[in-house]
Amino acid sequence: QPVEHFAPRVLAWFDEHGRKNLPWQENKTPYRVWISEIMLQQTQVTTVIPYYQKFMTSFPTVEALAAAEQDEVLAHWSGLGYYARARNMHKAAKRLVDEFDSEFPQSLEGVCELPGIGRSTAAAILSISRGVSTAILDGNVKRVLARFHAVSSWPGEKKTEQAMWRLADAYMPSQRCGDYTQAMMDLGATLCTRSKPQCLLCPLEIDCQASKKPDPTQFPIRKPK
Ligand code: ADE
Repeated sequence: QPVEHFAPRVLAWFDEHGRKNLPWQENKTPYRVWISEIMLQQTQVTTVIPYYQKFMTSFPTVEALAAAEQDEVLAHWSGLGYYARARNMHKAAKRLVDEFDSEFPQSLEGVCELPGIGRSTAAAILSISRGVSTAILDGNVKRVLARFHAVSSWPGEKKTEQAMWRLADAYMPSQRCGDYTQAMMDLGATLCTRSKPQCLLCPLEIDCQASKKPDPTQFPIRKPK
């Protein structure tokens, strides 16, 4: 299964079936993509949409967010939960304005230094907003890759996670980086779901090792006791 077949199949599927009309998919600036990725971390797309729209109306720029009172920012988060996300975001906005001249860092390392932004979120922001070829590995993508390779060790294990980052990097294309990132998220969220994967509709099915097993949902394997 040549590595170079992977991304084109995912992208062709995205062109037909991916989500392309979400509010954060227009005017994909680093700021707008960042806010969307943080909101989407533990919250469903349909829940996020109205929160996102209100947030962007109140805080249209990183300067506006940095200048706001924390209470005002938290009020926009009311109902979303996981308020540490909002506090970190506010702190990061202030740091961007004070220390980075309101410009988002260009490098993965730079973005990762901001509070509340891990490697996968940093990669999502840079690939979607700037077309940087850097792979994500969130829960959805871990599941897709664990199934594609029928990974027999637990992804919570450090070594396994490192191996999965290498796989994610190997499949990351150098063109259409943002579409590919969004496509992998959509594939995991809509087809390669945790309990009811729709292998018949999946563009990766022919080469997917888990799809050849009696029960693809056995991957990723559960946490060993
Ligand atoms: N979850 C995290 N990021 C997402 C995105 N960009 N689109 C849909 N779901 C997501």
